[in-house]
Amino acid sequence: MDKLQIKTYLESNKDRFLDELFGLIRLSSVSADEKFKEDIIRAANYIVEKLKEAGADHAEICETAGHPIVFGEKITDPSKPTVLVYGHYDVQPADPYDLWETPPFEPVIRNGKIYARGSCDDKGQMYMHIKAMEVMNHLGDMPCNIKFIIEGEEEVGSNNLEIFINENKEKLKTDVILISDTTLIDNDTPSLTVGLRGLSYVEVEVTGPSRDLHSGVYGGAVDNPVNVLCKMIDALKDKNNRITIPGFYDRVIELSEEDRKALNEAPFDLDEYKKDLGIRSVAGEKGYTTLERVGIRPSLDINGIWGGYTGAGAKTVLPSKAYAKISMRLVPNQNNKEITEMFTKYFKSIAPDSVEVKVTPHHGGQPALTPTDSIAYLAASMAFEESWGKKPIPTRDGGSIPIVALFKDALGADTVLMGFGLDSDAIHSPNEHYGLFNFYKGIETIPLFHKYFSELHNSV
Ligand code: BES
Ligand code: MN
Ligand code: MN
Repeated sequence: MDKLQIKTYLESNKDRFLDELFGLIRLSSVSADEKFKEDIIRAANYIVEKLKEAGADHAEICETAGHPIVFGEKITDPSKPTVLVYGHYDVQPADPYDLWETPPFEPVIRNGKIYARGSCDDKGQMYMHIKAMEVMNHLGDMPCNIKFIIEGEEEVGSNNLEIFINENKEKLKTDVILISDTTLIDNDTPSLTVGLRGLSYVEVEVTGPSRDLHSGVYGGAVDNPVNVLCKMIDALKDKNNRITIPGFYDRVIELSEEDRKALNEAPFDLDEYKKDLGIRSVAGEKGYTTLERVGIRPSLDINGIWGGYTGAGAKTVLPSKAYAKISMRLVPNQNNKEITEMFTKYFKSIAPDSVEVKVTPHHGGQPALTPTDSIAYLAASMAFEESWGKKPIPTRDGGSIPIVALFKDALGADTVLMGFGLDSDAIHSPNEHYGLFNFYKGIETIPLFHKYFSELHNSV
């Protein structure tokens, strides 16, 4: 199998590949909201069918307490190495709908990009692997056995997948895990992700008086929980944007000057970054660059805040309660359960006597690092070099894929993060998109990974 053969088959089937992806994207498989349950089921069934059409000997729906997991495999020879492909068919909610230029679940091509919810995260990226299997199957060259595990709850914390992998270790046994759910530096600068941040996510509730009060009758005399919550949130960072929670940085691994230098050598255009985001200046922890702030430093953000009156016009009210959803992105070697405990303890300790504070943890995940000295990394690097004509640069991404750390613990296997998205693809935002170039380049690169992985695996 060589690049030319792959490209030839791809060229004569590219429209069909895209049509099939569109069929998947049209299913509004939002995992966070039960009202999309029917499309969740349809999406899972669609993938089972497409796996079979692409040559899998077996594909099935695995029921869980939540949304179903799709498992499929093509075992051509037990003596070959096995690649386990992980992806997710669930997507983030498309809200706010009015900010989409075209409806989120009606994919269209504009400027060479597929616009739709899930086009990049992760339907477009996951589907490349199913088509890559079809390509290899058609060429009669399957260098590795392939297993697929495609879940429907990644965007809501992968809780049932964790149970599933622990109960099905033999079924999922593999030599490596391959995931396309991350980003490239840019289309001229291929990269392989070697680090992901973890996540600790909490919801806080601050309660003041036992009922909403008249803001004239009581204002100035009774603590307002919205004001209090704002002060408490402000106290979570100091003037240098360092997080003030005691012990928060204790386990953070500081990179050597040499490693920091290497990280900052990756091409990055700050002006382009600001322009894309519509901001005049960036901000973050003092003493670190933007690449470092998202790659190797933890962060804390308010994801939502509410309380009191937010309807039309004005209502003079001193609310009884205030709420916020707060996420913390973690870096190796921080532990998300420990951080959630530290947050809870500290947040309660800074509350004035006038309010009650409740902290409820949501889903989270551990940070992950993947090795750069493994044959799997080398195989991915060689695959990129062949299809892009350039050696990929190792990078650290700011997002989280909690299952990476769990796979390592449960299956003892390392992951290769071979993502083809771009930071500017607007994942989780209105007008999410994925380049046709990226979709097709991914389908071209993946079979080459299988080829090199098997060659390297058999030579050691
Ligand atoms: N694919 C993303 C994660 C990602 C995006 C990694 C870009 C690297 C670069 C994934 O679908 C995602 O959104 N994960 C969640 C995890 C959470 C729901 C536990 C995240 O990062 O918020
Ligand atoms: Mn994803
Ligand atoms: Mn996502």
